[in-house]
Amino acid sequence: MFIRYLNFVRGVSVNWVGKLGVILTSSSFITFIALEIARLSGMLTNAYVGLITYMLFPTIFVIGLILIPIGWFKYQKGTGKSSRELLNERFNPDESRAEILGSKVFRIVILLTLVNVIFMIAASAQTMHFMDSARFCGTACHSVMNPEWATYQESPHARVACVECHVGEGVDALINSKLNGLYQVLSVTFNLYEKPIPTPVHQLRPARETCEKCHWPQKFYGQKIKTITHYQHDENSTPRYTTLSLKIDTGPPGKRKGIHWHIASENEVRYASLEDRREEIIWVELKQVDGSYRRFTNPEYESIEVQPNEIRIMDCVDCHNRATHIYEDPVGAVNDRISSGLISEKLPYIAREAYDALTVSVADTQMALDGIGYNLRNFYEENYRLLSKREEKKIDSTIMVLRDAYRRNIHPEMNITWGSYRSHIGHKGSNFGCFRCHNSRLADRYGNHISNDCTVCHSIMAFDSEKPFEYLTGIDSTTNAARDYLKDEFTGGNQAGSN
Ligand code: HEC
Ligand code: HEC
Ligand code: HEC
Ligand code: HEC
Ligand code: HEC
Repeated sequence: MFIRYLNFVRGVSVNWVGKLGVILTSSSFITFIALEIARLSGMLTNAYVGLITYMLFPTIFVIGLILIPIGWFKYQKGTGKSSRELLNERFNPDESRAEILGSKVFRIVILLTLVNVIFMIAASAQTMHFMDSARFCGTACHSVMNPEWATYQESPHARVACVECHVGEGVDALINSKLNGLYQVLSVTFNLYEKPIPTPVHQLRPARETCEKCHWPQKFYGQKIKTITHYQHDENSTPRYTTLSLKIDTGPPGKRKGIHWHIASENEVRYASLEDRREEIIWVELKQVDGSYRRFTNPEYESIEVQPNEIRIMDCVDCHNRATHIYEDPVGAVNDRISSGLISEKLPYIAREAYDALTVSVADTQMALDGIGYNLRNFYEENYRLLSKREEKKIDSTIMVLRDAYRRNIHPEMNITWGSYRSHIGHKGSNFGCFRCHNSRLADRYGNHISNDCTVCHSIMAFDSEKPFEYLTGIDSTTNAARDYLKDEFTGGNQAGSN
């Protein structure tokens, strides 16, 4: 039996096809195992190595497997003998025994194939598993996904795999995503993709299957206090506070309606928008108890015909479109970093200088990063010579922090700059975020609007105040200053720290 195996190997290795086959299979197998050990032991973490391990070696392995029988066939043709004869050469020519042994060879081949198949299944399961990891999605096509990877790592979902939100459950979704992935590989290879990558992501799974696995509507109740600190551009970077008490209730039947009312299981809001970004709303419909819909229409777009497949039922992502890929606006980026202590507010004019450093417009990232360091150091050396020596460490660490902030938000290779992806949470500008629907332009046939009273969604407990809580008693008071503030049109960027 062993001799037969040897005969087989000898026969296969007579010509180059078979030889190549044997070399390819065994070498790819050994390499794969070696790399796998290296990866498991933590020596290799690079996504490219993983990509090669899981895609290249199994491919080579299969090519080798195909070459081996071809090599054998060639050898057999060359000698003019049958396979059985060849396997039994120089050794027991007895027909009947050969037959039995011949079938043994057959069994060995089957056995070996089985081993190979198991190996392949394990390898491809590994491949899939690996391709589903956030590291693969985020780094395999480096420059393309770099913005998503950078924002993801700093988001509350940094521990949630990309596929949890981007790939559906079940075989259909899996195959779909792999086919789609293939298309993405092609489009990256031939540079066919749009920059920046457009949203919405049409293959995004319905939020009920993703977000609601971890955050379900019943979990939203009560009020969420949020203080937004805004540092003035004076020498002390004086803080000013706006504090909102956000009414995040889902509002079970009979209870008060809050911000998450839209996604309570008994409610349905659907809408049609002018463009894919869903910023200009054509109409909004609200499902009534009797199953009919009450429609609020924008008179400007009354004549627009909406196709059924363009209608969207509102879910989490219509507000939390930046749940994970959170881009900041430059004001918010500076404020958040001072608030959290990453940047010291003791440095004179730091809010202003940091803002200026982040908003320089240069096309080249390296130049911008160098500029941040140069400008900040220069400013303190020229205007605060003593302090620039004494606080050198603080200045250096501020520069590092600002560079990180720049790298997170600005991606010239994908045409992403401040404000490229805006969050739908909040309402900077008169017609944005919640105010896409909650405004006085959309009206039902009786002329009613969707509520946009300042206290429907939040109480304002401080507005641009010296103290975080100004109006503890008048919970629902809203100052004229706040109303005026809203009249300022949107000036680029997202809401600070929104999600
Ligand atoms: C918590 C859920 C979640 C996770 C985790 C997640 N995403 Fe997303 N992703 C979203 C949502 C929501 C959108 C915006 C969808 C929309 O507006 O249609 C999005 C959009 C995108 C886009 C389109 C560009 C954009 O910013 O709108 C890309 C590309 C993307 N995600 C890639 C990734 C990659 C790569 C990872 C892992 C490193 C990842 N996502 C992890 C939810 C998620
Ligand atoms: C696998 C579980 C998981 C999935 C799926 C998931 N999240 Fe989260 N989400 C989390 C965790 C964990 C946090 C962090 C909680 C914390 O920091 O307290 C979080 C935080 C958040 C926050 C920030 C809360 C805050 O206090 O700032 C928002 C908003 C959010 N998720 C929305 C979404 C949306 C929208 C989706 C779907 C696109 C989604 N999540 C999908 C687990 C998940
Ligand atoms: C109508 C818009 C809207 C919809 C739809 C919506 N949210 Fe929210 N969500 C908000 C706003 C506004 C806040 C409060 C803002 C903040 O936390 O900064 C919020 C807060 C949250 C928080 C933080 C709550 C906390 O207690 O800190 C989570 C988590 C969250 N939403 C997840 C979801 C998920 C999951 C869905 C879908 C099932 C969803 N949201 C649907 C607007 C919405
Ligand atoms: C696609 C349109 C749309 C968007 C976007 C939208 N809403 Fe709504 N919202 C509605 C409709 C429709 C109603 C029901 C109005 C009614 O009952 O008269 C509603 C009701 C509400 C209610 C209950 C109001 C009440 O009358 O008691 C709150 C609170 C609310 N929305 C908050 C928000 C917040 C916060 C945002 C932004 C983060 C937002 N909505 C974005 C369509 C929208
Ligand atoms: C449909 C719901 C809704 C209505 C109506 C509404 N707001 Fe808001 N408002 C929000 C949400 C959501 C945020 C963002 C909270 C966050 O940043 O997480 C916000 C944020 C704000 C902020 C803080 C902005 C910042 O970044 O500094 C102010 C100030 C404000 N609202 C004032 C008002 C005033 C004044 C009115 C009445 C004209 C009003 N809002 C009506 C939902 C609403």
